[in-house]
Amino acid sequence: MKVDPATLPWRDAYKLLIGSVLPRPIAFVSTVDLQGHSNLAPFSFFSGICAKPMMVCFAPMIRGSDGKKKDTLANIEATKQFVINIVGERIAAQMNDCAIEFPPEVDEFTYTGLTKAPSHSVLPPRVQESDVQLECTLHQIVTLGELPGAGSLVIGRVVCVHVRDELFEGGKINSELLRPIGRMAGQTYTRAVSDTFDLERK
Ligand SMILES: Cc1cc2nc3c(=O)[nH]c(=O)nc-3n(C[C@H](O)[C@H](O)[C@H](O)COP(=O)(O)O)c2cc1C
Repeated sequence: MKVDPATLPWRDAYKLLIGSVLPRPIAFVSTVDLQGHSNLAPFSFFSGICAKPMMVCFAPMIRGSDGKKKDTLANIEATKQFVINIVGERIAAQMNDCAIEFPPEVDEFTYTGLTKAPSHSVLPPRVQESDVQLECTLHQIVTLGELPGAGSLVIGRVVCVHVRDELFEGGKINSELLRPIGRMAGQTYTRAVSDTFDLERK
């Protein structure tokens, strides 16, 4: 079967994309607005880009319900700062709850009971219960359209990395302890370390 995605309604194109690119890691992004309200939301169009400079990216789409930009993007445009909290299984349920479309003034930390930890170099707080947190300053936003189905690529420079001491072994993060999860299509998640295999390179 061959599909030209440009001919599909955006929701069908979205289903095709999220069913093809998976499992996806999850950036649990904390931001603040100019009044200081905190915001927390998950984004699985997320990737690392390079190590030095350490750069990461994620992509908030335009909201399907009202055609507006998501609070996370509006806050980053205003403050140029964000934190990516890595999602392990322990905080999966709270992360999932933060995908609810709350009005901008709702603080998802309060809603979920997650704890704000002050950041070192940026204003948005970190999620204390997350085992790895990346403090980022905005490098660039690439806008790829303004209608539902479109989105923006947010590229950030990581200016400070926090790793829970117990997970950091010889300069590496122990993924068995991190227990990262990935997002599949729909409402399904996967445990990343339960079924791994190694391939040697010659
Ligand atoms: C696991 C997961 C991954 C998500 N990934 C994305 C994504 O990559 N891009 C996006 O626009 N929305 C994504 N969402 C939906 C947003 O989290 C949701 O729209 C949220 O309300 C945005 O919050 P905000 O308006 O406070 O930024 C995801 C939701 C979940 C549960």
